[in-house]
Amino acid sequence: MEVLLARDYHQLSQMAARLVAAAIKEKPALTLGLATGATPLGLYRELVRLYQEGELDFSQVVTFNLDEYYGLFPDDPCSYHYYMETNFFQHVNLRRENIHLPPGRAEDVTATCAAYEAAIAAAGGIDLQVLGIGRNGHIGFNEPGAALNATTHLIDLAPETIRANARFFASINAVPRQAISMGMGSIMKARRILLLASGRDKAWAVAAALEGPVTTRVPASLLQLHPRVTVILDRAASRQLQGKANRDEGWPMCY
Ligand code: PGA
Repeated sequence: MEVLLARDYHQLSQMAARLVAAAIKEKPALTLGLATGATPLGLYRELVRLYQEGELDFSQVVTFNLDEYYGLFPDDPCSYHYYMETNFFQHVNLRRENIHLPPGRAEDVTATCAAYEAAIAAAGGIDLQVLGIGRNGHIGFNEPGAALNATTHLIDLAPETIRANARFFASINAVPRQAISMGMGSIMKARRILLLASGRDKAWAVAAALEGPVTTRVPASLLQLHPRVTVILDRAASRQLQGKANRDEGWPMCY
């Protein structure tokens, strides 16, 4: 696992954007896995800026988002469809047919989830998956538990996730209780993973994921088993890492 330390959120976003931009330059038809939430907002801002400056071309890029709240229509301002549209998609030259998100509603959830997995496979699998991390160590909406789902599935959100995400809704009661999320297998199959974490309220989850035992109780800890993960942290999110005393020598980058 490569761990890069950023001074602050702004620098984290710039570093993440540079990594994504380099991947697109190397492979213009990149299959890019995308995340939502507060953490990648700066990344999207930077990518839009690079596009506007003529540095990046998304015309061949294919995207798959990690998850969507179950029960929300795409035009609901709280949906991840809406988030992606307003924060990223409408500002770059991605082709509509290359954009994929799990639907917020489905007649047949099982078939819909299977179709999402099939679409990822048909696109050749995900080259680079961007991830945030929940305060409880979830990735996508794969919540801590005795077992984890491998593939895209409907999941009940953990109470702490509902509480954490209430800030994006009118009230906690408005937060959907379920979501469709890529599974741990879908995420682990990505050829490269970029995990971003910012802020002191992520410090516990970051330490548990990077330095704790590999356990379904901390879904992000499974990333220790992935061969190509880059983690970008700001200082606040790195506070509980035991390895921090050795940062200068032992960690790939220090700011
Ligand atoms: P956040 O969410 O970026 O809004 O903190 C991350 C997550 O819950 O995965």
